[in-house]
Amino acid sequence: MKTQIRKYSIHKEVREIDPNKPMVALTFDDGPSRLYTPAILDLLNEHNVAATFFILGSLGENYEDLLARIVNEGHEIGIHSFNHVPLTELTNQDLYFQLFGTQEVIENATGTSAKIMRPTYGFVNADLAEKTPFPLILWSLDTMDWESRNPNAVYTSILSQVKDGDIILLHDIFGSTADAMKDVIPALLDKGFQLVTVSELAQHRGVAMENGKIYSRFPPDSAP
Ligand code: NI
Repeated sequence: MKTQIRKYSIHKEVREIDPNKPMVALTFDDGPSRLYTPAILDLLNEHNVAATFFILGSLGENYEDLLARIVNEGHEIGIHSFNHVPLTELTNQDLYFQLFGTQEVIENATGTSAKIMRPTYGFVNADLAEKTPFPLILWSLDTMDWESRNPNAVYTSILSQVKDGDIILLHDIFGSTADAMKDVIPALLDKGFQLVTVSELAQHRGVAMENGKIYSRFPPDSAP
């Protein structure tokens, strides 16, 4: 066992989740980013809400403090890949490096393991699903933040479309996305949405996620 050095003190305020009220999951891909992930974490903490970060192992190994901060502050970390290659075209050996090389980075930095993954580009096929020993998490609301790079466009995309149970796709590698969160988070709270992690969303909607299965939303009637 490797000794864990926690660079941030544990900061988990109690968050009450009411299963009968609307809830959505903000998800941030392609980080962590030294420039923007801390600002997003500050905003999440300020409002005492949680989010999910699907990280790249190649960045995470350089920013272990950010991975530790994400976990210590009560958020969820998932695997995106090691270096953002499409996962559907890999040999088994390369696929397992993308998944478990990233998991190793997460474990070394946080002392915890990711329980979920998000395939790069949202590319999935039966072969990838079968070989992936994690639930595969897609999304139901695509903000297109990577294309607009505009906080107002991100805000409008979310507030005009958001529904109970949505999984919202964002990227914490853009300043415009971090800026958008200043208004998006309070606006979602004003509309009565609770902001929870993907695993919390599934759990409170009565879904026990299974490895190799694909999920994109957890509306109120999700439970089998
Ligand atoms: Ni990505």
